[in-house]
Amino acid sequence: GPMPHDMLLTGQILGFERTPFGGGDPNDAARLSEAVLIRGGKIAALGRAADLRAEAPEAAQVDMGDALICAGFVDAHVHYPQTAMIASWGKRLRDWLETYTFPEELRFGDPAYAREIASRYFDLTLANGTTTCVSYCTIHPGSVTAFFEAAQARGVRAVAGKTCMDRNAPPDLCDTAQSGYDASKALIGAWHGVDRLSYAITPRFSPTSTRDQLAALGALWAEHPDCLMQTHLSEQTDEITWVKSLYPEARDYLDTYEAHGLLGARGLYGHAIHLEPRERDRLREVGAALVHCPTSNTFIGSGLFDMAARIAEGQRVGLATDTGGGSSFSMLRTMAAAYEIGQLTGTALHPAQLLWLATAGSAEALHMGGMIGNIAPGMEADLVALDLASTPAIAQRSARADDIWEALFPTIMMGDDRAVKQVWIAGRPA
Ligand code: GUN
Ligand code: ZN
Repeated sequence: GPMPHDMLLTGQILGFERTPFGGGDPNDAARLSEAVLIRGGKIAALGRAADLRAEAPEAAQVDMGDALICAGFVDAHVHYPQTAMIASWGKRLRDWLETYTFPEELRFGDPAYAREIASRYFDLTLANGTTTCVSYCTIHPGSVTAFFEAAQARGVRAVAGKTCMDRNAPPDLCDTAQSGYDASKALIGAWHGVDRLSYAITPRFSPTSTRDQLAALGALWAEHPDCLMQTHLSEQTDEITWVKSLYPEARDYLDTYEAHGLLGARGLYGHAIHLEPRERDRLREVGAALVHCPTSNTFIGSGLFDMAARIAEGQRVGLATDTGGGSSFSMLRTMAAAYEIGQLTGTALHPAQLLWLATAGSAEALHMGGMIGNIAPGMEADLVALDLASTPAIAQRSARADDIWEALFPTIMMGDDRAVKQVWIAGRPA
């Protein structure tokens, strides 16, 4: 019989048919449909409203007018524990960690505080149209439990892991090689593959782990090769100098991970701005994903990631806010920042490329491109409806647009949570 949440949604439904990078005209990478039929939380069909209505007369009808309906945004690198300290002034990476980040992360030893911030984080990001995120937690296992429980209660697909650090951090934020391994393993057993949740093994970055800890987490990844692994790579030049002094035997920063079993296709390498040719070759050869965090890279003063050049070489790239190093919870603002950095590195990214990165591109970075990040038959129905005239400034510009991309671009550049009219999680209103 009919599922209670079968839904026939009408509006301007946008589905990508191919990547807007690599070859063809980005203008034709997506197709607009009048309607989408959702059954059992998944996309059943796209097409004309009358045809789908005939196919599913029992489905609830929801008309979003001329709103643009696309896949929910996928944020490939965030720190949910940094929610309350976003927009902290005046520091670069190491000072920023010492001054603002570590003191805030210490508070997550209290599970009640972790639950409060996890809940606040999902409220903020769902209001911004983000339906999947990949988050660092803190070293406290309770911070992972709080995050996964908040995700589970909302029905969202989410990825997270316990941050592991055993040096160069306050003693109360350090585990050990063994306890980091044991706690991570227990959390994989408790959460990986439960509902829509999955686990990412999470060494924070080479400066805050000993060789023993990196090796222990590399061994854990080998035991659980279907887990993602997330870390930071070559974000600031001072950080690279620090890594060279801590690991004099390493050929480069990436080698500190590679030598300990932490380089692989399911690896997510945040920032990756200042890479050596050998690092770029190895990352591409193994099919690892680089994660572009544009608002963070300008806010913390890290540098300009040349995304177009990396994609042209064949690197897999995702897009992310990096809250709270990043200065926004919004993937619209993040697309705008990627556009601006593109201008500074010599490439005007097309609106189709920006939207693809924030949805299908990030999903592919997570090896979830078959499940989320696009509106196509069989995909999970995590959707967002965008009002392309959400403020007077945006409305007067989009009114002049000749096509959907020109109509969307002012919302990418100037839009915020006011543009997000509705979000659906597995076909249900969030
Ligand atoms: N490198 C190591 N930890 C962090 C972090 O929390 N944020 C950012 N932006 N970079 C890092
Ligand atoms: Zn980060």
